[in-house]
Amino acid sequence: MAVLQMVDATKRYQGAAGERETVALNGFTCAFREGEFVAVVGRSGCGKTTLLNLAGAMDFPSSGEVWIDGQLTGGLDDAGLTRLRRTKIGFIFQFFQLLPTLSSVENVELPLLLSGAPNAREQAMERLAWVEMAGFAGRMPHQLSGGQMQRIAIARALAHNPKLLLADEPIGNLDTATGNMVLDLLRRASSEHGATVLMATHSAESTAIADTVIHLRDGAIEEVHRTACTC
Ligand SMILES: Nc1ncnc2c1ncn2[C@@H]1O[C@H](COP(=O)(O)OP(=O)(O)OP(=O)(O)O)[C@@H](O)[C@H]1O
Ligand SMILES: [Mg+2]
Repeated sequence: MAVLQMVDATKRYQGAAGERETVALNGFTCAFREGEFVAVVGRSGCGKTTLLNLAGAMDFPSSGEVWIDGQLTGGLDDAGLTRLRRTKIGFIFQFFQLLPTLSSVENVELPLLLSGAPNAREQAMERLAWVEMAGFAGRMPHQLSGGQMQRIAIARALAHNPKLLLADEPIGNLDTATGNMVLDLLRRASSEHGATVLMATHSAESTAIADTVIHLRDGAIEEVHRTACTC
């Protein structure tokens, strides 16, 4: 079974008064297997963030279907959606979005506490060690570099072993060397943790190491390159 399957997913946004509606995603159909590392590329405004929001059940298609690990996102109530997001999905953003009043380890621990995991602190420390940030556990986000913050954010996103990791331009705000280190961690999240990684990106390095590259244009798939076809 595909970890993420989207069937003819379309997202329309009503513009401001007098504006035409925008079709941000237009009939997107694809399936992604466990451990698949997917890069989503295309010009600004082509629908990358829209696609990730639908894939993470942060938003819903105007028509069509999104299935996450066998669950239809549009068919879940609020409690079901919260459970799905807390157990199956991890998010990583361009500007890290760590909680500024929590230390590194507390940021990683928070999703574990919210989902009632036992040994939350221990698991959080394990994840910090995995991103080689154990020595920074007590630091506050403002005491970290951008690359260090992104490593904490990756540890947080992986804290609950999500099946699906969604990353919206995760290296867009980092220099090349730091970005490559973050990319390597995301690649290892798929190969070592078996997470299906869907990453919106502008970087050529990202597309070079992806199993699948999806080119979006005006909300639709223009081209797909895959090393192993499951579509
Ligand atoms: N909430 C919204 N209301 C109306 N239109 C929206 C909304 N969100 C996105 N759009 C429009 O949908 C289209 C796709 O936007 P999206 O953010 O998915 O693009 P993107 O590929 O992520 O762009 P970027 O590379 O700049 O981040 C754009 O035309 C955008 O203006
Ligand atoms: Mg975007």
